[in-house]
Amino acid sequence: MRKIAVFASGEGSNFEALVKACSEGRLKAEVALMVCDRPGAPVCRRALRLGIPSITISPKTFDCKSDYERYLGDRLEELGVSLICLAGYMRIIGPELLSRFERRILNIHPSLLPSFKGANALKEAFDYGVKVFGVTVHYVDETLDGGKIIDQASLKYEGSDFEELTRKIHEIEHSLYPCAVARMLEEEKGMT
Ligand code: GRF
Repeated sequence: MRKIAVFASGEGSNFEALVKACSEGRLKAEVALMVCDRPGAPVCRRALRLGIPSITISPKTFDCKSDYERYLGDRLEELGVSLICLAGYMRIIGPELLSRFERRILNIHPSLLPSFKGANALKEAFDYGVKVFGVTVHYVDETLDGGKIIDQASLKYEGSDFEELTRKIHEIEHSLYPCAVARMLEEEKGMT
């Protein structure tokens, strides 16, 4: 059974969706660890409630980013984690983790990439007045939201309620992410 670590900085609703998909057998993997870089973030309470082990540590407690990532990489390897799923993790992954987990780090982003990269993608798309929104699951590389796309889903929305749009996008994310991870694991199995 593949072991996944989910990295999150905020609410953690996608983290919970991945945990649920594993426990329901839709995703044949185990979420072995949640990593949070923001002490006090709501995702920490979710991990407790779901009984998922977690590491919450501020990168500021390390001398540099590569020390922080080396520490995390060592913990992940100790636990036998072989896949990292970023889920609202508000940091760029550096060379240390990218090289140790090459093609084994995924991200979910609330836009139809390559449109609207960055931290405020959904709001920027909404303010721009786009009519078709979406979600992308992609591999993480050294570029911002730029790695190879695994899957996408779109949503036609012409309303003017940003909260409603956000809810709809989250619903899509919660089904797309587990499916995309499952698909990626299947494809990987097919290659071995
Ligand atoms: C999601 O919209 C995801 O696409 C983006 O950050 C948000 C995280 O939401 N990368 P949550 O913390 O999983 O609820």
